Amino acid sequence: MPGRIQPPPAERLDRLGPFLAMEIMERAFEMERAGHRIAHLEIGEPDFEPPEAAVEACVRALRSGETQYTDSRGLIELREAIAAHSERRFGVAPDPDCVVVTSGTSPAMLLAFSLLVNPGDEVLLATPHYSCYPNFIRYCGGVPVTVRCRESAGFALDPDALAEAVTPRSRAIVLSSPANPTGAIHSAETMASLCELGLPVISDEIYDGLVYDDAVVTSALQLSDQSFVLDGFSKRYAMTGFRLGYLIVPEWARRPLQIMQQNFFISANRFVQHAGIAALECGAEHVERIRLACEHRRDLLVDGLRKLGFGIAHRPAGAFYVLADARRFDRDSKRLAFTLLERAKVGVTPGVDFGEAGEGMLRFCYAVSEGTIEQALERLARVLPELEQNVSGEART
Ligand SMILES: Cc1ncc(COP(=O)(O)O)c(C=O)c1O
Repeated sequence: MPGRIQPPPAERLDRLGPFLAMEIMERAFEMERAGHRIAHLEIGEPDFEPPEAAVEACVRALRSGETQYTDSRGLIELREAIAAHSERRFGVAPDPDCVVVTSGTSPAMLLAFSLLVNPGDEVLLATPHYSCYPNFIRYCGGVPVTVRCRESAGFALDPDALAEAVTPRSRAIVLSSPANPTGAIHSAETMASLCELGLPVISDEIYDGLVYDDAVVTSALQLSDQSFVLDGFSKRYAMTGFRLGYLIVPEWARRPLQIMQQNFFISANRFVQHAGIAALECGAEHVERIRLACEHRRDLLVDGLRKLGFGIAHRPAGAFYVLADARRFDRDSKRLAFTLLERAKVGVTPGVDFGEAGEGMLRFCYAVSEGTIEQALERLARVLPELEQNVSGEART
């Protein structure tokens, strides 16, 4: 068409980087379409079935015509079930009117940051961190301020270091426990001292329930009625593709979040919300099965990676990831991840996806089957020695 001008994307898009785990997964899908078989350890996707009761409830709802919008905050039955779950799990029952049901935890994150962050506001977070937090913060005009967690300390967050980073521009603190990508679990003392700083705490609790070696998780709900809890069904219930999550918020935040949800999303899928109710009511045993399997898979992967020469100072205590030092194979984690995908047909996530503190590392997901873990280790064993030789060759020259 003559004279048609292609405008550049809006400037706010300049502040949004790609989500590298997805980039790797999408390249892997492309390779699969070309006939390759990929061992997927890149994405945080449990390869377990969702709870049978959740599938049944979803199908039943769909067949009985539950295909309309719901209240923007979600079906009251689901919000009540979420409140009851919090009470069972942490002894705190939020008001169901303070629960907003979303299409996954990611939209809940967008709502929380949109509510809290003004241009120029600083948001504190531990690093290495979940890839998307800084992107959401920058998208809202905010400034992510990172506090480094050392691998030698099991990636534990130092609450004093975080408190020292607080300035008059600080607007919120992001916590994630168990954490992605490190698997670290913040102690009750750490969580309490951060809640006492008087800033809103956005606590991402999506990996709650997936903890090992008798580790104990604290919810921000137990510590402050001013916290914003992000959670969802993707991980512990293996329901990634259902796209169902939620946000539990302080009383003052209810109305503005409702208005955002009405405008941006109208509501989460009605029939999927029925799956959520069933998962909360009947899914506890299922979560425990996933947890036990993941604990075993973690050990298989950690031991295998150590034998291959990856550096892992501590066995992660939660979530389902290992962040391993890969510098002896390549100091550039993105290049290394793409090399391993192309040459070994193993998908892994570059550490730099989790911030500069993750550079030189790779993240491996162990929520995949033992067969996939073993296959990935075998394939890596064939390719890594050559990469290691290249690095030592470069060091000599
Ligand atoms: C820490 C963390 N929060 C949120 C999400 C997003 O999950 P959802 O599938 O519910 O959008 C992920 C996904 O990997 C995650 O690791």
